[in-house]
Amino acid sequence: MKIIKTLDYYHMSRMAANILSAQVIIKPDCVLGLATGSTPIGTYEQLIRWYEKGDLDFSQVRTINLDEYKGLSPENEQSYRYFMNEHLFKHINISLQNTHVPDGLELDSAKACDDYNHVIRDNGGIDLQLLGLGLNGHIGFNEPGAAFEKETHCVDLTQSTIDANSRFFETMDQVPKQAYTVGIKTIIQAKKIVVIATGKSKADIIARAFWGPITPAVPASVLQLHNDVVLVADEAALSKIPDELR
Ligand code: F6R
Repeated sequence: MKIIKTLDYYHMSRMAANILSAQVIIKPDCVLGLATGSTPIGTYEQLIRWYEKGDLDFSQVRTINLDEYKGLSPENEQSYRYFMNEHLFKHINISLQNTHVPDGLELDSAKACDDYNHVIRDNGGIDLQLLGLGLNGHIGFNEPGAAFEKETHCVDLTQSTIDANSRFFETMDQVPKQAYTVGIKTIIQAKKIVVIATGKSKADIIARAFWGPITPAVPASVLQLHNDVVLVADEAALSKIPDELR
């Protein structure tokens, strides 16, 4: 694994954007695996800036997002499709047909997951997967205990996630209880993986995921088995890794 240590969130975002840019320049029709959450927002902002300067062309790029809430429409502000449109897609020259997010409105879980696995296969797999890291080591919606051999599947959200999300909805009925997520088997098949992390709150899980035992109890620990992982993280997030690496 390669570690790129940055001063702060801003520099982490620029570094990650540099790696994604290189991928787009080297292979203009590449398949980018993308994440939502707070960590990648700065990376997407940087990509938009370079696109606006004329340095990047996304016209042939294809994207495959990690996850989506079951039951939410693309227009719902809490949906990950909405997030991606707002934070990246509508600001660059990507063709929306080339952007993929699991279909939250498909309530037949088996069909939604099967369709998404086909999309991934039809696009030839993922060239570069961008990943954020959950505090408990989750990647995508693969929570602790998730099997390493799964492709896209439907997960029951934990009560704490449901409770945390409830503030964004008018009634409890509207709060998603399940989500579709790309599985660990698919993530690990990406040719290159870039993990981004920022802040002290991620320090413990980075140490456990990358220097602890490989176990489904820490889903991100599976990344130790991949031969092309880059961890781009700021000093605070790297503050608990083994001394000799700091
Ligand atoms: C989002 C996703 C999640 C996040 C993780 C970290 O698509 O797959 O696994 O990457 O929850 O979230 P942040 O970046 O908000 O700390």
